[in-house]
Amino acid sequence: MNLRAFGYVGLGSDRLADWRAFGTEALGLQCAKATASTLRFRMDDREQRIFIDSTLPEGTGVFGWEVCDAAALDHFGAHLEDHGIAVSQAPASVADERGVAQLIAFDDPVGNRLEVFHSATVAGTPFAPARALSGFRTGTLGLGHIVFTVPRIDDVLPFYRDVLGFGVSDYMLSPFRAHFLHLNARHHSLALIETGRAGIHHLMVEACSLDDVGQALDLAESRDEVNVSLGRHTNDFMTSFYARSPSPLMVEFGWGGREIDPESWQPVELRDGPSLWGHERHWLPAEDRALAQRMRIEAAAAGARQPVQVMDGNFVRMSDTCPWTDGAREK
Ligand SMILES: [Fe+2]
Repeated sequence: MNLRAFGYVGLGSDRLADWRAFGTEALGLQCAKATASTLRFRMDDREQRIFIDSTLPEGTGVFGWEVCDAAALDHFGAHLEDHGIAVSQAPASVADERGVAQLIAFDDPVGNRLEVFHSATVAGTPFAPARALSGFRTGTLGLGHIVFTVPRIDDVLPFYRDVLGFGVSDYMLSPFRAHFLHLNARHHSLALIETGRAGIHHLMVEACSLDDVGQALDLAESRDEVNVSLGRHTNDFMTSFYARSPSPLMVEFGWGGREIDPESWQPVELRDGPSLWGHERHWLPAEDRALAQRMRIEAAAAGARQPVQVMDGNFVRMSDTCPWTDGAREK
């Protein structure tokens, strides 16, 4: 019955031409289909992962969470109704639009439209990124992660954790309050940031090569779209930057996210801030930016660092190190 992954996302915007340019030129997604009201993007073998819908209000979205089959979807729907949640069965026409066999829909406590589905359609043609790119890390990890801003985390967290079954990865209280939640080995498929208002903060996609991030950063800088500088996260170890999209949300473009074991993971409080280095957050108030910078400098002074997380094909093991490093490592 459990939710397995973040399967698709739809964003409301009537800036379709801008989104088409951003999705393909900046992010490297494949535009699989464009109509008068929608854009459909591919990022892997599936028919679609990200769509833009001009009939949805700007700043809103639909968020698709995957279960394994029809029986699991039935069970999940019944489970939601047991918790007093109003669930609607989407008609076949909507399932077709989403590129899935079947879905149900309901709202979270702050009005985000959530959809639970099974059996996404695999495209009949290979993924063709819009520009040279090593590909996106998806599969069982899902398409990436989504981060919502919420008025109060305590009003929303119990819904995701206790009703939908997300596991808490970790949380922080400073320089802003945030909770990070997982469904699978991806450190977080969802995060909640307490800002006082409901909205979509950012969508993260993960490329397969560090150079994809650097090259996307160059492009984003040339387009004047960088909103959070290059940096590395403390909790999921992602090396990333954040670009302004044509909508109010940002898109985090990352590489090297860690994997966790969801069965044995124990949530912890993050005390060093959200980033090991970098990630200058232009969206934060000046006072919180200064605090975030202070936390990074203190963490660096304390020697905070983490190994890179690599996959086959994107690293070469080197043969030699220096005696001092070897000695320091053995201590
Ligand atoms: Fe993120």
